[in-house]
Amino acid sequence: SSDPLKVAVTGAAGQIGYSLLFRLASGALAGDRPIELRLLEIEPALKALEGVVMELDDCAFPQLAGVQIGSDPEQIFDGVNLALLVGARPRGPGMERGDLLEANGAIFTAQGQALNKVAADDVRIGVTGNPANTNALIAMSNAPDIPQERFSALTRLDHNRAISQLAAKVGAPVTSIKQMTIWGNHSATQYPDLFHATVDGKVAAEVVDDQDWLENTFIPTVAKRGAAIIEARGSSSAASAASATIDAAHDWLFGSADNDWVSMAVRSDGSYDVPEGLVSSFPVVTEDGDWTIVQGLGIDEFSRARIDASTAELAEERDAVKELGLI
Ligand code: NAI
Repeated sequence: SSDPLKVAVTGAAGQIGYSLLFRLASGALAGDRPIELRLLEIEPALKALEGVVMELDDCAFPQLAGVQIGSDPEQIFDGVNLALLVGARPRGPGMERGDLLEANGAIFTAQGQALNKVAADDVRIGVTGNPANTNALIAMSNAPDIPQERFSALTRLDHNRAISQLAAKVGAPVTSIKQMTIWGNHSATQYPDLFHATVDGKVAAEVVDDQDWLENTFIPTVAKRGAAIIEARGSSSAASAASATIDAAHDWLFGSADNDWVSMAVRSDGSYDVPEGLVSSFPVVTEDGDWTIVQGLGIDEFSRARIDASTAELAEERDAVKELGLI
């Protein structure tokens, strides 16, 4: 349809926003379909956001049908078809994990409630802001009228990082790699899986044929890539996070490629013995705004232990936010 797709972005004046908004407006998400941007920020960041909107204006993007900014989630989320929840409270000096969960809990509780009240009936909600999986769980739990499968958390950046690392190792283009999976949490416990990924149709772990590299280089490189970017760049990954946010939303709304799948953190139905109700990353096939967890993959002992470790961390986060009364 040529009705504008109404896309909300939270934390729009932040680093990721500065890359994400321009790609959304230039057609990276929805091609020629017009896009209306609804940008949410906290009050003190609205002036900076006005400056970003001036730059959006200055691009004269043909597909950009309108931009609204504000600090009231109920106003900004009104009628949105897609909400990209990027804004979150970063961990400050001396902040414990519990403090972080609590600060973000307040944000994602309020945003979940507002989405529940005013978003379009077909809304899809993608959470990028960290701790992404648990923030998605909190938003979902505070939006009882929105089907739970409409919420996901971003592990597509990890997925893309895994593809890129594998491609470099085997000396093949990224397009030769399919069926990559990130399992578990978007955190250092995540498990990037080379036993189901393929390189030109052959099992990646067999093509690599180097268990030491897989275990001691590949997995930690992917899992700790965020820290390596901070170390090199002096600030956290932003353009790549924006790019992955668009990849994830694009595939969710318009479908993943044939004979391939993508990684998305979604509410577990118990598949692969991931405890039901956790928002955990799985291999999923997407079509027209729906996702389905790929079934029937064999999980060996090595993979089992890593999936279990990451989902145990997710269960701890869930228990912590439950104790705080956030879910
Ligand atoms: P940033 O700090 O540059 O921007 C965050 C923005 O969110 C700020 O402008 C802030 O004012 C805003 N914000 C805070 N509370 C808000 C609220 N209640 N409503 C609306 N806006 C609010 O951070 P950056 O670099 O853009 O990253 C954003 C988030 O994405 C962080 O939590 C970061 O950890 C996470 N991230 C996630 C990745 C993933 O793969 N899932 C990858 C990279 C970053």
